[in-house]
Amino acid sequence: MKIGIIGAGKVGGGLGKLWIRAGHQVLFSSRHPKRLRVLVEEAGLGAYLGGVGDAALFGDVILFSPNFWGVDDALEAAGPLKGKTVIDVTLPNARVVKAFSTIPASFIPHAIYRTGRLQRLVVFYCGDCQTSKVIVHQLIADSGFVGLDAGRLRMAKELEAQGRMNQAGLIGIAQAKRLLHQLTDPIQNESLACHDVDQSAFVEEASASANYI
Ligand SMILES: NC(=O)c1ccc[n+]([C@@H]2O[C@H](COP(=O)([O-])OP(=O)(O)OC[C@H]3O[C@@H](n4cnc5c(N)ncnc54)[C@H](OP(=O)(O)O)[C@@H]3O)[C@@H](O)[C@H]2O)c1
Repeated sequence: MKIGIIGAGKVGGGLGKLWIRAGHQVLFSSRHPKRLRVLVEEAGLGAYLGGVGDAALFGDVILFSPNFWGVDDALEAAGPLKGKTVIDVTLPNARVVKAFSTIPASFIPHAIYRTGRLQRLVVFYCGDCQTSKVIVHQLIADSGFVGLDAGRLRMAKELEAQGRMNQAGLIGIAQAKRLLHQLTDPIQNESLACHDVDQSAFVEEASASANYI
């Protein structure tokens, strides 16, 4: 899949590297693309750099992760996103899926597969376009987490700083499903099939990151 990253900082840079490892092509963008040379070299084959507009053109999926004060400027620089799957921000005509807002950037590099040993951590996501949610669900898996559909885009507030899914911190699938059942959004009954993984206790790095929160 071709993924354009707008805001290739700690979150965007970290996720982009994981997606390249999973075999995707990623264009990391910046207002100053030359600054991303090291990141792109580290990311390896399948990584490209460019301006914000380049990322928007390149990606079938756009990870929109600029600083919050840069959102308006970044949107303007991105140009039309009609028909694209956009992870994280509300845009007219874009198929927005809110995701990854419950995960601290410091944990992203550690989100590696260890099936059988490590319970994967949940990334909640929500949105109104089922096709885009299927894509995002796969990208969440490709970055080493397990996705859990939290329902319609109106649930986004629960994924933000004061929301209950954000406050829950780094959790596994069983705990995340319990939390979802406590919430009332009816769409959760239509959620994607999520694979239950090894329910054993988290290993040390997961606990350490939970403490970080
Ligand atoms: N850090 C976390 O743990 C965490 C967790 C959940 C959600 N978030 C959210 O994720 C977003 C990114 O956080 P982060 O920690 O990755 O921030 P960051 O490391 O500071 O990276 C943000 C990037 O946004 C780019 N940017 C800023 N203004 C821009 C503009 N006008 N147009 C285009 N790009 C612009 C910057 O790139 P250039 O200067 O190179 O253009 C910068 O590399 C924020 O909205 C944050 O609230 C962060």
